[in-house]
Amino acid sequence: MSFDLSVIPNKNIIVGITGGIAAYKSAILVRRLKDAGFNVRVVMTEGAQAFITPLTFQALSGNPVHTQLLDPEAEAGMGHIELARWADLVLIAPASCDTLAKFAAGLADDLLSTLYLATSAPVWVAPAMNQQMWAAKATQRNLATLVDDGVHVIMPESGSQACGDVGLGRMPEPEELARQVTDYFHKAQRAIAEKFGLLASKHVVITAGPTREAIDPVRYISNHSTGKMGFALAAACYAAGAKVTLIAGPVSLDTPNGVRRINVSSAVQMLDTSMQLLDEGCDVFIATAAVADYRVAEVAEHKIKKSGDELDIALIKNPDIVATIAQQDKRPFMVGFAAETRNVEEYAAGKLVAKKLDMIACNDVSRADIGFASDENAMTVFFAEGYHLPKRDLEKASKQEIAQQLVEAIHDALHHDPAQDEAF
Ligand code: C5P
Repeated sequence: MSFDLSVIPNKNIIVGITGGIAAYKSAILVRRLKDAGFNVRVVMTEGAQAFITPLTFQALSGNPVHTQLLDPEAEAGMGHIELARWADLVLIAPASCDTLAKFAAGLADDLLSTLYLATSAPVWVAPAMNQQMWAAKATQRNLATLVDDGVHVIMPESGSQACGDVGLGRMPEPEELARQVTDYFHKAQRAIAEKFGLLASKHVVITAGPTREAIDPVRYISNHSTGKMGFALAAACYAAGAKVTLIAGPVSLDTPNGVRRINVSSAVQMLDTSMQLLDEGCDVFIATAAVADYRVAEVAEHKIKKSGDELDIALIKNPDIVATIAQQDKRPFMVGFAAETRNVEEYAAGKLVAKKLDMIACNDVSRADIGFASDENAMTVFFAEGYHLPKRDLEKASKQEIAQQLVEAIHDALHHDPAQDEAF
């Protein structure tokens, strides 16, 4: 399972396709952009339709394909001006030298060239043509004009061409184009989050997953924690503008985009890493890890051999990571988790006080539909007394949605001024 933020919701891309053999790659491009979560509309020139049919793109984009400037049917629904306004980005791929020339000259004799003039969205072109046509002075002059006009040019690659020539002029692979578009929106999203996000300018450290306590070189004690909640929180904190460091026990999850991950194994390693990060400066510490309560007193140097009917292994208590961090002089805002099978709220409230936490989120792991290995969770959040904030019930939802609500709860507590409550 992945908490990749690569899915970009609610962004509109117009893919303009012009006449060139590379048009076949645009079918995959549209597919990849849809996979990444974009709404895609396709505009085709007449030349493009000689290489590939509009029907292909209608099926792939899930939208009617636009081919005519003055098509009464299209103008009644989404005419060229609406289309120009709809776009968050216009990507012409492949862009023929004819189209580049039209754009540079400001001609508006078909839908695509009209759209180019009518849109205020960023315009990207991915030229693809014969290497001699690419090198032609007129093409280079037109490109220079377009760059001057603010168009982003995705440079063609060098290689063997459909016409048999070898040289510059191949359109980059569709996956690469889709990656560049996705990257652009991620960066834009991140820039906004870093300024206005709920956790902008905060460094959040999150512990996640189980710990693994060695018995001998081949055996260990651990638990069933999957780390999903911690990873979802890391993604949500990053999306909220925070710098995020994830201290992960052994789990098989992809690192969320933009998150720094430090892998650890044992509870002692997790504590050491947490302390080091505290020195780096940490504003919020979220402990979602299911830390083993005990570790083996003396880890055997060699594999323990089978002998006798019983085996005694002495265990000693592990340090409580969250409680240790909470005792430090420059303590961050401390968030703990409690997974209980009974008296959930009572035990959680007790831990909030005993571990000197600012906030605790608790759930009932006796419920099979939520918690540990599940993709969903339901929680109750308590704040330390000084915050004068009432408890919050977070209804059953995906771990991503719960993570988002926890980010909101952290933000509210960080910005809550109890003195103001008393004034009323
Ligand atoms: O005591 P219990 O394990 O129920 O406490 C849960 C909370 O304390 C969680 O936030 C967990 O990550 C944290 N914890 C810890 N170090 C431990 C045990 C628990 O940070 N050794």
